[in-house]
Amino acid sequence: MTEDEDAIVAKPRPFWVAGRPESSATTFDVRHPYDGTDVATVSAPTPEQVERAVAAAAAVAKEFRSSPAHLRAAALDHVSATLAARAEEIAETITAENGKPLKWAEIEVARATSTFRFAAEEARRFVGDLQRLDTDAGGEGRLAVIRRRPRGPVLAVAPFNFPLNLVAHKVAPALAVGAPVIVKPASATPLSALLLGEILAETDLPSGAFSVLPVRGSAMSSLVEDPRLPVISFTGSTGVGWGLMAAAPRKHVVMELGSNSAAIVCPDWTDLDHAARRIATFGNYQAGQSCIAVQRVVVHRAVAEDFVPRLVAAVESLRTGDPHDPAVDVGPLIDEDNAKRVESWIAEAAAAGARVLTGGARTGTTVAPAVLADVPAEAKVSCEEVFGPVLVVSVVDSVDEAFEVANSTEFGLQAGVFTHDLRTAFRAAAELEVGGVVIGDVPSFRADQMPYGGVKGSGTGREGVRSAMDDFTEEQTMVLSGLDL
Ligand code: SIN
Repeated sequence: MTEDEDAIVAKPRPFWVAGRPESSATTFDVRHPYDGTDVATVSAPTPEQVERAVAAAAAVAKEFRSSPAHLRAAALDHVSATLAARAEEIAETITAENGKPLKWAEIEVARATSTFRFAAEEARRFVGDLQRLDTDAGGEGRLAVIRRRPRGPVLAVAPFNFPLNLVAHKVAPALAVGAPVIVKPASATPLSALLLGEILAETDLPSGAFSVLPVRGSAMSSLVEDPRLPVISFTGSTGVGWGLMAAAPRKHVVMELGSNSAAIVCPDWTDLDHAARRIATFGNYQAGQSCIAVQRVVVHRAVAEDFVPRLVAAVESLRTGDPHDPAVDVGPLIDEDNAKRVESWIAEAAAAGARVLTGGARTGTTVAPAVLADVPAEAKVSCEEVFGPVLVVSVVDSVDEAFEVANSTEFGLQAGVFTHDLRTAFRAAAELEVGGVVIGDVPSFRADQMPYGGVKGSGTGREGVRSAMDDFTEEQTMVLSGLDL
């Protein structure tokens, strides 16, 4: 490498203020979670640069909400097409900053491509409703035209576990409805969001429509409290999310928080190998760092004896290690503190009488995928969100008991129910206290256009492009009078 090339590589990555690249004297490093190597140096915005981004978002809000749908849709289409064209490079970036195996990073890029495509399509058809008012004598000759208007600029606070697609789930619907958006990426994984900023800067969006600000967590409170950002879309930990809502009681806050998602294996499910493979894979994809990763496996006694050894074998067949190795299924956790936390939670459960059927050993930032049985309900691996490669098996005597166990948590994001029985499927949807029920599969299924979000401690509001567009807007009614209907 020449000195010039070296200088280019070492140059801190700029951030995006009102659509333009900027830098500052303050920088921080992004490190690869697997081996701690330096991935990039990122420039961090000063308070003055943050202020300019917010002021620009507020200033452009009125113009942007009235912008033609074709302008917003074209920008979203451009992002979708560019993500597809640069998929390999972007997947490498995700793996480098987040540590998820490349095969999962590739899926994330493909999903983000769809997320932006859905947003472009929705932007073109987002029109509102007509309501006839002549249903009663007082409304004769009147018609309501109900349209959705942006609530205002959106503060988008994104997590580390899907550093591209969970940013996309906030940026794409905001831009689709004409709401300016300020992105605060996770401190550990800002690179994918900065790259998105670069792609957005190639579009004809008005200045101020987006900013990407890799501010540290401590700088968050002024953004959260800023009245010029009336909408907050947050994905992250439960404690931070509810704290943020308490700090901004007058704002519209959408929160996708944690969970300890359950997969229920019913006695009628015949292909136990399939269920075991799905649960093993989706308890451990991204090292369990997904809010809808399987954590609790609730299995009916009639099939438990056949199922549990299959589950242990499927988990043991997963390869743990360097996420750049195409054969690796389970990469590192985001950092060593989290790996140590998961290790200590397993040890706590074991000390309380749990049986560790496999896994649990930590090497640096990786933890060997673990399966635990006979876990006391109050052990953290059972009642809290592990966000690590741990499965906790409970054996139950009836479907009623399975639903009871699945509901015995403060969380409620998604649940998976392995059943072929249509009545059990409908009962699951009626009785499980979650935002989404997946029949015949794990809770970890998410299509990016479908409504997605939790109940109870798992949050409020819904993502999924169209649902987020509804959440970022509010209805405005125009009544037309004196009409010949
Ligand atoms: C999450 O962790 O909440 C997101 C899961 C997904 O998008 O697949």
